Amino acid sequence: MQTINLLPHLDHLVQHGYAIVPDFIDPATITELYHYAQQLSPTDWQQAGIGRADQYTTNTAVRQDKIRWLSPEIASEAAYLTVMNELRLLINYELFMGLFDYECHLAHYPPGAFYRKHVDAFKGRSNRILTSVLYLNPDWQANDGGELVIYADDGSSLATVLPQAGKLVLFLSERFVHEVLPGQRDRFSITGWFRHNNSIGGVIDPSH
Ligand code: OGA
Ligand code: MN
Repeated sequence: MQTINLLPHLDHLVQHGYAIVPDFIDPATITELYHYAQQLSPTDWQQAGIGRADQYTTNTAVRQDKIRWLSPEIASEAAYLTVMNELRLLINYELFMGLFDYECHLAHYPPGAFYRKHVDAFKGRSNRILTSVLYLNPDWQANDGGELVIYADDGSSLATVLPQAGKLVLFLSERFVHEVLPGQRDRFSITGWFRHNNSIGGVIDPSH
């Protein structure tokens, strides 16, 4: 992350509410993360849920990925959390966003899996401010599918993003409807949220 100039991307984030950074993470680090995700066993993953902790459901008609929350106790996971914490501080320094913390999970979409149109946060009901998605997939081609599509308010598509290794997408969590289209290959990513620390109804936002 330190080797590329993020400032034009942060400008784009300010102007448009989202940014796409093609080579956010260097190839060697991405390869390590990719191999780490590959060697996890089925019990290391859980079926992804939808909605807040108090109305938690797993609805495979909406989303079909498997996830694994990252923790600082595991070295390969801690490394990524450190990078994203540096990004959090940079964004706060440049954009005064007051991002308080960051949480993220690995996601695995098997071939054909999707995540239908959704938003990541509802106004006043979540501390999620800024979404990040980092892709881990080597040699991902257009005909592999699995695109992230980000929509404008009028329903037209603003951006269609191939989930190629090293690419980072940032977008305001409340603002954009988005979806993950089915792909032809196993698709690995790390999705995360930079958060504020407001309490909601006296309870710190339960993320999962
Ligand atoms: C999500 C999500 C997008 C992607 O996990 O909420 O929208 O491209 N992921 O994986
Ligand atoms: Mn999402």
